[in-house]
Parts: sequence; structure tokens; C-alpha cells
Amino acid sequence: MLAVIAGHVIGLMIPESWTEAMGINEHTYHVLTLPLSLVAGACTIVGLALLIYRRRTVTRVLERTSTGDKIMYVFLGLAVTLGVLASWWASGIFNDGHNYREDVSVWFRSILIFQPDGAAMAGAPMWFQLHAIAGMMLFAIWPFTRLVHVFSAPLQYVARPYVVYRSRDAQPTGNRAPRRGWEPSRRD
Ligand code: HEM
Repeated sequence: MLAVIAGHVIGLMIPESWTEAMGINEHTYHVLTLPLSLVAGACTIVGLALLIYRRRTVTRVLERTSTGDKIMYVFLGLAVTLGVLASWWASGIFNDGHNYREDVSVWFRSILIFQPDGAAMAGAPMWFQLHAIAGMMLFAIWPFTRLVHVFSAPLQYVARPYVVYRSRDAQPTGNRAPRRGWEPSRRD
């Protein structure tokens, strides 16, 4: 997902004219990025499948699965699957390929500057349109689902002191003498 996010930031936010000014033409850009896109997309599908399998098979996780989670999986699954289909479409492996930086990216940036350019997206191939709809719907339900945790990363965990768990047993470490600092706490 991190590679997919990086790919979206680069592909949607950097105008084609900028990369061309750097001497990277359209063909070179796609030769460089498409293999990465396809690998990242395939890894995302496999990761999603593994997580759904875990949610179904681990009783502890299944018991805590809400209707909201299931709805979210449908939207997430749609966005990811349609994204991979759009990526295949762009790749040119099965057809003539498509340069989404001339329509989808232009449309996406137009929204960010509050001047939506629907015409730019109207000419894009169907897989890109469906993928963008699925992506936008996922963004809309995002705050009401478990995905909201994305915005509450526990960054302070990196710097916080260890939580030391100590057993109250008299001899917690079997026959070995406890290491310094790990002696059982006294119960007074
Ligand atoms: C409206 C917002 C979005 C737009 C405009 C958009 C656009 C695109 C485009 C143009 C591609 C093809 C990239 C390429 O082949 O190089 C793509 C691929 C993909 N997208 Fe999106 N996307 C959006 C939202 C999302 C969301 C929310 C997800 C998942 C949570 C997602 C997941 C993917 C995946 C997995 C791929 C295939 C792998 C890749 O190319 O990185 N996209 N998207």
C-alpha cells in the first residue's frame, strides 16, 4: 500500500510537463513506473486477501468484525481491484495502453484547486472512471469505518519507555536467576 500511495502521489500530482522538462518523456516515464505499479497492485491484492482470510478464520478477530467492517471491505476491495484493472489498462500489455496523466491526473488536480474539470475525466477509459468513483466512495465512508485509524498512528510509541510486565510469581523465570532490572517486584 505504501508503494501504491507513493505511485498515486507521483502519478496524480506531478504534471506530465514537469517530468518532460526533466528530460523524462512519456514512454520512459511509463517504462519506469508501470512494472512498479503492477507489482504494487498485485501485492496489495494478495495482502488484502490475506487480511480477509485472517478476519474470517481467526475466531478472536471474527467475533470483533462489525457490519461496518464488512461494508468497508466491499469498498476497499472494489477500489483496489478496479485500480489494478486500470493499471493493466494503462500498461499497454493487453491493448494500446493509456496515458492517464493527460486526463485522470488533470481531473484529480482540478478538484484539489476547487475548479473541478469533469470534461478531463469524461474522456478517460471506463476502468479509470470506475476506479475513481470507487476511490471517492471509499474516501466518503472512511471517517465512519475502522480506516479512521490511519489518522491516529501512535507515533509516540517510537519514543515512549518500555512497558515492563513483571510476574508476581516468586520464581518467574524458571530455574534461571532473574537478570538485573528484571527481578520480581516485592509484594509488601
Ligand atoms: C479518486 C482517487 C483515485 C484516483 C484518481 C486514482 C487513480 C489511479 C490511477 C491513474 C491508477 C493507475 C496507475 C498506474 O498504472 O500507474 C491507479 C492504480 C491503482 N489504484 Fe488508484 N486512484 C484513486 C484512489 C485509490 C484508492 C482509494 C485506492 C485504494 C485504497 C487505490 C488503489 C489503487 C491500486 C491498488 C492501483 C494499482 C496499483 C498501482 O498502480 O499503484 N486508488 N489509481
